[in-house]
Amino acid sequence: MNGRVHGKVALITGAASGIGKACARHLAREGATVVLTDRDAGGGAAIASELGPPHVFRRLDVTDEPGWAVVVDETVAAHGRLDILVNSAGIGVMGNVETATLEDFRRMYAVNVEGTFLGCRAAIGAMKPGGGGSIINLSSVAGLIGVPDLAGYCASKGAVRMLSKSIALHCARAGYGIRCNSIHPSFIDTPMVDAMAAEMGAAMGDAAKARAALERAVPLRRLGHVDDIASLVVYLASDESRFMTGAELPVDGGLTAQ
Ligand SMILES: NC(=O)c1ccc[n+]([C@@H]2O[C@H](COP(=O)([O-])OP(=O)(O)OC[C@H]3O[C@@H](n4cnc5c(N)ncnc54)[C@H](O)[C@@H]3O)[C@@H](O)[C@H]2O)c1
Repeated sequence: MNGRVHGKVALITGAASGIGKACARHLAREGATVVLTDRDAGGGAAIASELGPPHVFRRLDVTDEPGWAVVVDETVAAHGRLDILVNSAGIGVMGNVETATLEDFRRMYAVNVEGTFLGCRAAIGAMKPGGGGSIINLSSVAGLIGVPDLAGYCASKGAVRMLSKSIALHCARAGYGIRCNSIHPSFIDTPMVDAMAAEMGAAMGDAAKARAALERAVPLRRLGHVDDIASLVVYLASDESRFMTGAELPVDGGLTAQ
């Protein structure tokens, strides 16, 4: 541990799995007090107990507006401040513009976009009195380039990208000292990508073939590791990145460089 975020208080959504879980481990290791949240209470509580006190788990569905107020108020009451918000909760449902259902489209918007909006708004209210903070939103390469079979996911992640820039500029203009940046991963080895490979595999006849196809699509020829994202999250959460706001950062093995 180097204490790169020592003394800071972080709230993470989607912390029961994948990228959010790795962010919790990295931020805790670097000295932050972490409030892990997720709609999956069992998974979230397990990670919190692995990390031990002062880190805690609070159940939060990011689409629940009053729920956000409760968790953020509890965080400030318990720890005195909020410095870091990582919006990692997200869902992806495959479907092109002709096959996607309106229900799936709206579900992705509710979690990925509205959930991020609600989190940013609640966090800004809590960060202002502390003189600043860092908000990190998980978008995707699908928020930068089109993917035919991810119509709703692309739309939602593109919205997260622009929402992050709007928040960054608002907070800069207001002099809050709050920064907001978006991260754009390609395929990271998590349950979300397992599910995607399984669905593609059903069409291709083999999930391993689907996974290999995802690896081939990346110039570095592998899936990303959750630590590849969590390392950047620590940097963005720390004061090392104090001049960065409104930035969009691909962590994609070169996918969007093509
Ligand atoms: N894995 C990838 O390849 C990849 C690529 C680009 C972007 N992303 C984005 O990174 C983020 C994390 O993805 P991941 O791969 O870790 O996924 P994951 O499925 O492993 O974890 C997502 C977590 O979000 C939680 N969640 C879902 N809906 C929720 C809700 N309404 N309220 C609270 N929690 C909720 C789930 O319970 C789960 O714990 C997502 O926003 C995803 O879109 C992932």
